Amino acid sequence: EKGGWSSFMAKEVSEQPDAVANTLRGRLSDGQVVIPELEEFGDEVLAGIRRITIVACGTAAYAGMVSKYALEKWTGVPVEVELSHEFRYRDPVISGDLLVISISQSGETMDTLMAVKYAREAGAKVVSICNTQGATIPRESDAVVYTHAGPEVAVASTKAFVAQVTALYLFGLHLARVRGSLSTAELAEQVRELSAIPAKLETVLQTSEMIAQLAHWMSGTRSVLFLGRHVGFPIAMEGALKLKELAYIHAEGFAAGELKHGPIALIEPGQPVFVIVPSPRGSATLHPKVVSNIQEIRARGARVIAIAEQGDAAVLPFADEVVRIPLAAPLFEPLLAVVPLQLFAMELAIAKGLDVDQPRNLAKSVTVE
Ligand code: M6R
Repeated sequence: EKGGWSSFMAKEVSEQPDAVANTLRGRLSDGQVVIPELEEFGDEVLAGIRRITIVACGTAAYAGMVSKYALEKWTGVPVEVELSHEFRYRDPVISGDLLVISISQSGETMDTLMAVKYAREAGAKVVSICNTQGATIPRESDAVVYTHAGPEVAVASTKAFVAQVTALYLFGLHLARVRGSLSTAELAEQVRELSAIPAKLETVLQTSEMIAQLAHWMSGTRSVLFLGRHVGFPIAMEGALKLKELAYIHAEGFAAGELKHGPIALIEPGQPVFVIVPSPRGSATLHPKVVSNIQEIRARGARVIAIAEQGDAAVLPFADEVVRIPLAAPLFEPLLAVVPLQLFAMELAIAKGLDVDQPRNLAKSVTVE
């Protein structure tokens, strides 16, 4: 039940600190990650993996894209992320040293189920990240790492997303330990970052009033663009997806570096653009590049809403609005930066008088191909 909230979505957005904490529970000990469900799978199998392909759809695919950066950095194993329905129908190269990771909140998405079956029949091992105990996809997989986000009722995926990224990071740290690709100190450092996320999510949720006001002012907007770089890129696409599905507004997410290769032509006076700004401390090379992207679009009249870490003053002269997120190491920023974008899409839908739990034409779980 909604328990006093105006919608399931509002409730589920607010539950994100718990979703992450519950997904971490029982999987961290002494600065190490141990996922009991993977013990059965066998360390020799994990040690023998040469490639990873992540298959998923929609928001789950963006969780996969976010995790690629961490998985490759921590384990040295090349990671490819593919939409399940594309993977299944393109004769992908599958061998015994390929690990397929499927991500699905419902565990019933037909496109992802078909990709999992196809991969296993072709000889790959499959680990599933799933939020629904006993669903079909986990039953068809070699191992399952459950996200413990609790039931997600609203069509728009929110708390499942942060739980999926958390589970994928846990998986990456488990793999890094088994393969010896990170030192004990490095592992402990990442575990500290992960453990700090629930409290930081509480802080980001405090932006909700400011975002509601912003959405209210922007309720007549017909198009919104989102720019991000590195782990901010999938977040830009996730922000755009949320806005499309909830507020029925044209929205697109771009890699900020791609701007001058085409999308900057879309910028005209008054065009709202959300920019996910990487931390100046963590991404010393990328931060100035994104700030200069902001200057470029601002010079062409864009209305810039920056999502930037506390204390980042470089964005102030060029942004119309700044939404602040707490400090985190770069790989962990997406878990925080996504929240204002979820809130924005939800509040804009509310401002337009739309049903945020049941957007038109959509089902919670897509059980047909
Ligand atoms: O249940 P799944 O995680 O497999 O669902 C995948 C997508 O259908 C889902 O994330 C969809 O994109 C959401 N409505 C996005 O908010």
